[in-house]
Amino acid sequence: MNYLNLDKNRTKETVEQLNTLLADYHLYYQKLRNFHWNVVGENFFDLHEKFEEMYNDTLIKIDEVAERILTLRYQPVSHLSQYLKMANIEESPSETADLEMIDILLNDHGKLLTQMRKTVEFADKGGDEGTIDLLGAYIRELEKTSWMLDSWRMTKSGTHKKS
Ligand SMILES: [Fe+2]
Repeated sequence: MNYLNLDKNRTKETVEQLNTLLADYHLYYQKLRNFHWNVVGENFFDLHEKFEEMYNDTLIKIDEVAERILTLRYQPVSHLSQYLKMANIEESPSETADLEMIDILLNDHGKLLTQMRKTVEFADKGGDEGTIDLLGAYIRELEKTSWMLDSWRMTKSGTHKKS
């Protein structure tokens, strides 16, 4: 039964983008765990805790994105091997300096934001307000988290240069 009343071809395009976002989120999630475990140095307690907070938040979003795809009557990509091929985000070494971890994450946030905005564009073409609403909130939250991490990083590194 087609109770959604959405254009199926448009929805298919949106779902392709949502699946790429799902792949990005998995790479991002595992990177946060990697950094949570392997961070060392004077900022250990700050970052160890912050990364845990961030990966727990990401876990919720992973489930919501997958279930949005199911709500749209498609199947979410569900295998790590496929995520590695599809994602814009790449893995990072465990031996990464603490402040560099923040730089890497901010760079990944840029990729996540780009992928989310791209998905919103497709959703907009398909009149898919539900997806726009979900991702709109994610975009807003990630922009705020990025500002906070960037401010923390500037304080720690003694630079106050904004980019
Ligand atoms: Fe832990």
